[in-house]
Amino acid sequence: MTANQLVRFVAKPVVFLSALLPVAWIVWAFQAGALSANPLSDVTNETGVWTLRFLCLTLAITPLRRLTGWNLVIRFRRMIGLFAFFYGTLHFLIYVIADRFAGLLDFPDGIVAWSTVRNLLAAIGEDIYERPYITVGFTAFVLMLPLALTSTTGWIRRLGGRRWQTLHRLVYASAVGGVLHYWWLVKADVSRPQIYAVVVALLLGFRLYSARARAAAPRPSTATRSGAVAPPARSSTRTSA
Ligand code: HEM
Repeated sequence: MTANQLVRFVAKPVVFLSALLPVAWIVWAFQAGALSANPLSDVTNETGVWTLRFLCLTLAITPLRRLTGWNLVIRFRRMIGLFAFFYGTLHFLIYVIADRFAGLLDFPDGIVAWSTVRNLLAAIGEDIYERPYITVGFTAFVLMLPLALTSTTGWIRRLGGRRWQTLHRLVYASAVGGVLHYWWLVKADVSRPQIYAVVVALLLGFRLYSARARAAAPRPSTATRSGAVAPPARSSTRTSA
């Protein structure tokens, strides 16, 4: 079996199934009554933390690849990034149902009605406007949308490597927003958000450092003395967000 086949038929399915374990555990714990007295809050928190963990894992791929030279790891980045979006979507939907929908006091035309949809959207909009940690969390989630939508090979081709790469730098803002959102919502003990802040700072710091190192490195000349043409320093389609 080649390394390529090993990644495709063994490693990728294993990573995919492993990434589903948190949601499987959440569903099991919820129906088994193994959560706290406020299970909906636990489910919101768990999905939120997993969104942040997957964002950090996505950001860790490029440093891991550069530091170890293990290029195959890049093959997992899209899947892990999409899992960040998956957990973010679950987190947002659970908040919408458990917090906003449950908080609607009256249903003038019954539960399944346009007035309910309007009232729900108004309740979400009000919360985004009034509570800064929700504003930041919502922004972090919205920033993930274009990344998920353009994650396919077709979109990389359509946008071109460089533009795609620039767009996908939004993941940095999303991770920073996720940390701020977490920090802002915890009432007293900020030790857990602090750990994520350090992890995200290190992952972004690595990028800053390697970008500066690359800019400072002498550019190889395109023509050598013997007249042979040297290969380009970087491929224009390489993606390193
Ligand atoms: C990238 C996007 C997001 C990330 C990374 C994220 C992350 C988190 C984290 C880490 C927690 C706390 C977990 C804990 O205390 O153990 C949390 C809680 C929470 N998040 Fe988010 N979040 C995101 C988006 C959102 C959005 C879009 C909303 C709603 C508009 C939202 C609403 C909430 C609420 C209400 C809680 C508190 C739940 C409770 O205490 O009962 N989050 N989130």
